[in-house]
Amino acid sequence: MLPSLAIAIASAALVSAHTVITYPGWRGDNLKTTDEFPYGMQWMYPCGGLKTTTNRTYWPTTGGAIAFQPGWFQGHATAFIYVNLGFGTDGPDKGPKNMSFPMAPPFQLLGPSKNPYPGTFCLPQVPLPANTTVKAGDNATIQLVELAIHGAALYSCVDITFVEPGDERLAEVNETNCFNSSDLGIADVYTLTVRASGATNITSDAEHRFYFFRRGGSRSVLATLLGWAPVVLGGLWVLA
Ligand SMILES: *[C@@H]1O[C@H](CO)[C@@H](O)[C@H](O)[C@H]1NC(C)=O
Ligand SMILES: *[C@@H]1O[C@H](CO)[C@@H](O)[C@H](O)[C@H]1NC(C)=O
Ligand SMILES: *[C@@H]1O[C@H](CO)[C@@H](O)[C@H](O)[C@H]1NC(C)=O
Ligand SMILES: *[C@@H]1O[C@H](CO)[C@@H](O)[C@H](O)[C@H]1NC(C)=O
Ligand SMILES: *[C@@H]1O[C@H](CO)[C@@H](O)[C@H](O)[C@H]1NC(C)=O
Ligand SMILES: *[C@@H]1O[C@H](CO)[C@@H](O)[C@H](O)[C@H]1NC(C)=O
Ligand SMILES: *[C@@H]1O[C@H](CO)[C@@H](O)[C@H](O)[C@H]1NC(C)=O
Repeated sequence: MLPSLAIAIASAALVSAHTVITYPGWRGDNLKTTDEFPYGMQWMYPCGGLKTTTNRTYWPTTGGAIAFQPGWFQGHATAFIYVNLGFGTDGPDKGPKNMSFPMAPPFQLLGPSKNPYPGTFCLPQVPLPANTTVKAGDNATIQLVELAIHGAALYSCVDITFVEPGDERLAEVNETNCFNSSDLGIADVYTLTVRASGATNITSDAEHRFYFFRRGGSRSVLATLLGWAPVVLGGLWVLA
C-alpha cells in the first residue's frame, strides 16, 4: 500500500494536491485544479468544492474512527487539523446548514518535510460534538480542515448516515485502515491569554512583549498607545 501511495503522491504534487480522508471515506476526488477552482478545489469552504453526495457511508451513533492522509501537497511541513460535524440535509446544497460543531480538539500535524509525503493519521474514537446526540438513520457530514501556516485552509468532507455500533454496514476499523505512520508527528495546540477581554491595564508586561514580537520594538509603544490602529495600518502597508 505504501509504495503505491508514494507514487500517487509524487504525481499528485504536479496538480497541487492536499488531504484524503481514508476512513470512513470522502465525497470524492478533489485533489484538482479546474477552471472553476483555479486555486485548487480543496481551498473552497466548506467541502473542497464538492457538493453533498448521496452515496453516504455509515458511521456509528457513538462516534468512531477517522483516518486521513495529510501529505498530498507541497509547501506545508506543518498544519493545524480540525474535525467538525454538520447535521442534516436542510443546508444550501442539501447538506448541513453549517459545519460548526467541533468533534476533536485541534492539534498540529508535524510532517517530515515541505515536500509531499506519504503517511496516514488515525483517530480511532472521535466522539460526537459536545452536547449533541443523534439516532440511527440521521444524516450528517464530517469535515476535515487542514489549516496551513499562512491561515488558508484545505477542506475535505464525507457524508454519513448514522447506524448503531456493530451494524454490519459499518466498514471494519483495523490496523490496515487505522494507524499512525511513524513519520507524522503531533503537537498540542494551545493559546496564552495576553489580555483578557475587558481588562483595564493595557501596558502589562505580557502585552508589551506581544507587540514587541509582532511589530518590532519601536512600534510596540505606538501599538500600545493607539490600540489596533497600527495593526490595521501595518496590514495595509503589507498589502500595498
Ligand atoms: C461517492 O462517489 C464518489 C464518485 O464516484 C467517490 O469518489 C466517493 O469515494 C464515494 N464516496 C463514498 C463515501 O463511497
Ligand atoms: C439521508 O440521506 C439519504 C441519501 O442522500 C437519503 O436517501 C435519506 O432520505 C436521508 N435521510 C434523512 C433522514 O434525511
Ligand atoms: C447550524 O446548524 C445547526 C444544526 O443543523 C442548527 O441548529 C443551527 O441553527 C445552525 N446555525 C446557524 C447559525 O445557522
Ligand atoms: C455543553 O454543556 C455544558 C453544560 O451545559 C456546558 O458547560 C458546555 O459549555 C457545553 N459545551 C458546548 C461545546 O456547547
Ligand atoms: C480491515 O478492514 C477492511 C474494511 O474496512 C478490510 O477490507 C480489510 O481486509 C481489513 N484488514 C484486515 C487485516 O483485517
Ligand atoms: C494516533 O495518534 C493520536 C495522537 O497521539 C492518538 O490519539 C491515536 O490514538 C493514534 N492512533 C492510533 C491508531 O493509534
Ligand atoms: C493593573 O496595574 C496595576 C499597576 O501595575 C496593578 O497594581 C494592578 O493589580 C493591575 N490590575 C490588573 C487587573 O491586572
